[in-house]
Amino acid sequence: MPLVSSQEILRAAYEGHFAVGAFNANNMEQIQGIVDAAVEERAPVILQVSQGAIRYAGLEFAAAMVRTAADEADVPVVLHLDHGTDFDQNIRCLRAGFTSLMYDGSKAPYEENIRVTAQVAHMAHVCGIPVEAELGKVLQSTDGVTEEQVQAAMTDPGQALDFVQRTCCDSLAVAVGSVHAMKEAQAELDIERIKQISETVNIPLVLHGSSGVKEESEVEAIQYGISKINVATMLNQAFVKGLCQAIDEDPDNVDPRKWLTVSRDAVKEVARHKIRLFGSAGTVKGNGFASPSKSFRSANLGAIE
Ligand code: G3H
Ligand code: ZN
Repeated sequence: MPLVSSQEILRAAYEGHFAVGAFNANNMEQIQGIVDAAVEERAPVILQVSQGAIRYAGLEFAAAMVRTAADEADVPVVLHLDHGTDFDQNIRCLRAGFTSLMYDGSKAPYEENIRVTAQVAHMAHVCGIPVEAELGKVLQSTDGVTEEQVQAAMTDPGQALDFVQRTCCDSLAVAVGSVHAMKEAQAELDIERIKQISETVNIPLVLHGSSGVKEESEVEAIQYGISKINVATMLNQAFVKGLCQAIDEDPDNVDPRKWLTVSRDAVKEVARHKIRLFGSAGTVKGNGFASPSKSFRSANLGAIE
C-alpha cells in the first residue's frame, strides 16, 4: 500500500498502549528485512532515515527504496526523517515525499528549539505531515557520557506542556534515561518522568536510544505513553554479525548476495523480536488497527526471554 502518515498509527498506539517500532535503515537489505518482519507480524512499521543515511544513500534513493518496500507491503509503512537538525533538511524531506518528520532542536536553547520546531510544524501541517520534536537531550554514548550528564539532560516535565502548545508538534521525543548507540541493554528508564510528561501533554511520546535500554523497562514505558521506539544500533549489530559469520563460513565466495542474505535475515529477526515486544504484532487487521486482545503487558513480558 502507499506510504502512510505516522499520525494515525501513533495515535492508535498511544491509545492502545502499544508502541510502533521505528527502525533505522541505510540500505536495501535492512529495509527489506524490517518490512518483511512487519508484514509477517501484521504490524505497522516506521522506516526512518537519518541524515547520515541520507548522506550515504542519497535522499531520493533512500526515499524511493522505502516507498517501493511500502508499495509491496500490505501493512502500513511510514517514511520518517530521523533527527533532522535543521529547517532546510525537513523541507527537503517534505518535498521528497516523507510522511513523517523530525526536527531535533535539542542542542539549541529552549526558545530557539521552540521557534524552529514551530516553523517546521507549520510547513509540514500545511501538507498534512506530522512532526516529532525533541525536548531534553538524548546523549551519545560515543561522547563518553556520565550518569550525572544523562540525568541533567532529561526532559523537564514542567516545560513539556509549554513546548508542545507553542510548537504544535505531533509527537515528542523525550530524554528519560536512554543514551544513543549503546552496545548493550543496561539502562533503566525514568518511568515516573514518562508518566508525568504523558499526563501533561497527552500526545505520543518517542523513545530514542532504545538499543541500550533493558527490555522490561521498555515494556513498562509503553504503558505510560511511549508510542514510538527507535531502534538502530541493535539492527546494525545484527547486520554486521551476520555478515562476518557468513564471510567466515565461506571466505572464498565472491557473490555478495550470499552474505547479504544472511545479514537481511538477521535484521528481520531482530525487528520481529522488537515488534512482538512492543505489542504492535497483530494490530493490523485488514486496513485498520485492533487493540491488542490480551493484556499487553503480560503477553509481552513473556516475549522478552
Ligand atoms: O534515532 C535513532 C535512535 O534513537 C536509535 O538509537 O541506536 O541506540 O538504537 P539506538
Ligand atoms: Zn535518536
